[in-house]
Amino acid sequence: MPKLTTAIAIETSCDDTSVALVRADGYVHACVSAAQDEKHRPFGGIVPEVAGRAHAEALMPLIDSVLGEQKMEWSAVDAIAVTNRPGLLGSLLVGVVTAKTLGLIFGKPFLGVNHLEGHIFAPFLKDTNHQPTHDLEFPFVSLAVSGGHTTLYLVKGLGDYEVLGTTRDDAAGEAFDKFSKMLGLGFPGGAQIDRLAQGGKSDAFSFPQGMMQEGELAFSFSGVKSSSMRLIQSLAAEEKRARIADLCASFQEQLAAGLIEKLNRAVKKTGVRVVTITGGVSANSALRRQGSEWASASGLKMVLPPFRYCTDNAAMIGYVGLLRMNRGEFDRQTMAPSPEASVGL
Ligand code: KG4
Ligand code: ZN
Repeated sequence: MPKLTTAIAIETSCDDTSVALVRADGYVHACVSAAQDEKHRPFGGIVPEVAGRAHAEALMPLIDSVLGEQKMEWSAVDAIAVTNRPGLLGSLLVGVVTAKTLGLIFGKPFLGVNHLEGHIFAPFLKDTNHQPTHDLEFPFVSLAVSGGHTTLYLVKGLGDYEVLGTTRDDAAGEAFDKFSKMLGLGFPGGAQIDRLAQGGKSDAFSFPQGMMQEGELAFSFSGVKSSSMRLIQSLAAEEKRARIADLCASFQEQLAAGLIEKLNRAVKKTGVRVVTITGGVSANSALRRQGSEWASASGLKMVLPPFRYCTDNAAMIGYVGLLRMNRGEFDRQTMAPSPEASVGL
């Protein structure tokens, strides 16, 4: 089979419908997403039934718009990549059934991709406005921090991952989302906390970081959750309002410091010199600043995705899909989505 060059990629695992046209070297021709925040906001969190329906509405128009924008016909597309795990089952089903149907109609090979593996490779995506600081090079250490996952991987090659540490309870993104809810800032919370933190004092309040014992690479956010709750309840409404910037700055700066400390331990343990931070929380300004400063002080190569590839996007799914399909991995029409995937992939 000739080398597959271009793929249409579909991502519908959670609450963003995303479609991309990607090249095998990680170049993104186009990536468009439809967020569902407005639809879920009244409920204070993601409602699976609402998400599935919104994906069904948005997906085909997005595919048409990506191909139309690029003036491309299906004949120029070599393959289809789709997120098939982990995620909300009703959301995954929309993407998977669409990908399989398009594969059948247009006679294209397709592959189900692990969403987490997509995040691991996202820092190496490129486009007309972005070139990664370093090209894909193994091994590297990946800190994957999103709304559903917080895991440190040693990435030895495509499909060859060692879990160095993972969360014992919440994900880092959930900690941001819960803190935001406690402050009455609504959902999703990470970006709002980041915005409000600008100009705040990062040492005004103290937030404990979990699992900091020597040599520990696992994460825990239950302690910071309960101490945040106690702190916020102890503040009068007026004071809470007046000190919102200090609260947000202290929370994100200290949470970021805990994450970077674990990354530092992972680098020391493995001796690996290439480091990436990925997933929705890698959009956080404190984490990016601390990560970059630490990496340059330690002489490490740090690869941070631009904002558009931090959060969920189809481009990362297309890149991993092509890497795998080009080594001969394909799915059949019996492929089904799975809500679960182990952190070890
Ligand atoms: O990767 P992602 O889009 O979806 C999952 O796979 O979970 O990550 C979403 C998470 C949410 O918890 C959101 O609050 C968080 O990423 N997030 C942020 C920021 N932007 C998004 N957290 C901290 N700071 C941000 N700027
Ligand atoms: Zn994600």
